[in-house]
Amino acid sequence: ALTTELRTQLQLREVAGIPLQASTVDNWSQIQNFEAKPDDLLICTYPKSGTTWIQEIVDMIEQNGDVEKCQRAVIQHHHPFIEWARPPQPSVLVLHRCFFLIYFKGVEKAKAMPSPWILRTHLPIQLLPPSFRENNCKFLYVAQNAKDCMVSYYHFQRMNQMLPDPGTWEEYFETFINGKVGWGSWYDHVKGWWEMKDRYQILFLFFEDIKRDPKQEIQKVMQFMGKSLHETVLDKIVQETSFEKMKENPMTNRSTVPKSILDQSISPFMRKGTVGDWKNHFTVVQSERFDEIYRQKMEGTSINFCMEL
Ligand code: A3P
Repeated sequence: ALTTELRTQLQLREVAGIPLQASTVDNWSQIQNFEAKPDDLLICTYPKSGTTWIQEIVDMIEQNGDVEKCQRAVIQHHHPFIEWARPPQPSVLVLHRCFFLIYFKGVEKAKAMPSPWILRTHLPIQLLPPSFRENNCKFLYVAQNAKDCMVSYYHFQRMNQMLPDPGTWEEYFETFINGKVGWGSWYDHVKGWWEMKDRYQILFLFFEDIKRDPKQEIQKVMQFMGKSLHETVLDKIVQETSFEKMKENPMTNRSTVPKSILDQSISPFMRKGTVGDWKNHFTVVQSERFDEIYRQKMEGTSINFCMEL
């Protein structure tokens, strides 16, 4: 059972209209004052849009395709999560072959690591610590179509005991379209980043493109990171970052997280990894209503999503 203190930390509270974890809001000034440096790379996603996948791709590129190095720790600890302030986010420190568990906030964890940093965030662009934009850091944004993202978020809230209960699918439909979920509205998040993509160094990728042609998209990430890897290494990265491999890999499938936090018997963390699973969830009526709301909320943007492969 969760303690009262932990429950309080789990509640969502708003910053400038965006629901965030209470612990993030409590540490807001420390997060906002984070000093990014010009060579840093920030991995940016709306929740459930392929964060873990792009993290593994980035890490494989960074480690030149060395699988063993990528398995040095669980993936959530490779790239400090800048707005994360909820204890515990344990980190494993290996000293003299002994393992130590240490607890850090995302910003503290980053500062303890050598720079340049590769960091991650779910923050909408307007809530980023200002130093990222002031220093013209590189941003790697991955977006997934709204319907599949909503399905994934729904199942994640069912299995993640740290998040609000999503209720029924019908109830969640309303919650999601109204942006009453952690990190706010999908529509505003995606639009916000998309509209800034030519003003900053933003590589804007789509989950659906990575699924369709992983090698081509991985190559884009590699170039963006200023790396050059041999064709055979790229092929290896494509294989190692496939859904099947990552589902089996204990460093990426969250199997090390206790059941009291992520209950994978309700829904696995690596659930389906496909494009178009929304068709198994939305009724025709819901889909039409969703499309209408989508048109209103996304009016005027040039962004185009692929809804099935
Ligand atoms: P589903 O719930 O639709 O299966 P995040 O990491 O941002 O939480 O995103 C989670 C979603 O990405 C999940 O979607 C998960 O299955 C999917 N995913 C993770 N790794 C993947 C991979 N290698 N290939 C395809 N999808 C992947």
